Amino acid sequence: MTSTRTVSGLAQVKERQQQMWASGDFHAVATLIQPVADVLCDAVDLQAGWRVLDVACGSGNAAIAAARCGCDAVGIDYVPALLARGRRRAEAEGLSIELLEGDAEAIPFPDRSFDAVLSVFGSMFAPNHRQAAIELARVCEPGGRIGLATWTPDGFIGEMLKVVAAHVPPPPGVASPILWGTESYLRELFGDQIDTLACRERTFTFRFRSAEAYVDYFRTYYGPIVKAFETAGTAGGAALFGDLVDLVRRFARTTSGPVSIPATYLETVAVRTGGRA
Ligand SMILES: C[S@@+](CC[C@H](N)C(=O)[O-])C[C@H]1O[C@@H](n2cnc3c(N)ncnc32)[C@H](O)[C@@H]1O
Repeated sequence: MTSTRTVSGLAQVKERQQQMWASGDFHAVATLIQPVADVLCDAVDLQAGWRVLDVACGSGNAAIAAARCGCDAVGIDYVPALLARGRRRAEAEGLSIELLEGDAEAIPFPDRSFDAVLSVFGSMFAPNHRQAAIELARVCEPGGRIGLATWTPDGFIGEMLKVVAAHVPPPPGVASPILWGTESYLRELFGDQIDTLACRERTFTFRFRSAEAYVDYFRTYYGPIVKAFETAGTAGGAALFGDLVDLVRRFARTTSGPVSIPATYLETVAVRTGGRA
């Protein structure tokens, strides 16, 4: 389950990952997937007045969704430019949220600080999976809720990450983020830190004018793909572009013209151990 690298090896990986997420502009993707955060808040059944943390919040999707539910919302991420964008979004909506720089593997809050802890396609990307899970549980009140959205391995984004890895192999010894997309892995990862865990598969649909437009958008804005094209160079980039276009066409509901691409993810709601029976 866990990565085979040493902790200092994983720290180097994390530094490179931080640069990767800071490249492009993830906010352009976040605006597309905002509904995932709204649906997760509903699944967790947030209550107005709860203290809610959004871990690896990017430009604040789940924190903003929680604030719209009347919660006291806080988000952490390690890319300052995304946090700055999130603050502007919240201000535009007249919402009061706190967005702070922080690492999903060392959340800068004391134990039991939040009634609910959310992460939408966030903690799954931390290189030390066990540590990321410990931190999600640690800052959650006993009996509080942990809500996750994680891409499934065989869904569109899971397959997209595999295509990218085939062209630009990830660092050896680091566990794949898409492991977080199965219930059995999450049960093992969280172990006795949780009392209950309920998962259901959901679909988010990406909509673009063409398969090529999807790939262009992601190679402009989505850090992992921006970096993959940089690393692949000109010839490798052309091959990567072609394979990604083929993948979009394989998943899209239509065979020509505009594409609607269903992307499956796992929505998980867990209850932190130790609440009153
Ligand atoms: C796919 S984006 C999702 C962002 C946001 N949750 C959303 O739904 O729009 C992944 C985010 O995780 C952040 N991230 C990845 N690893 C992190 C870590 N170890 N600590 C803090 N943030 C991290 C990245 O900076 C990026 O904003």
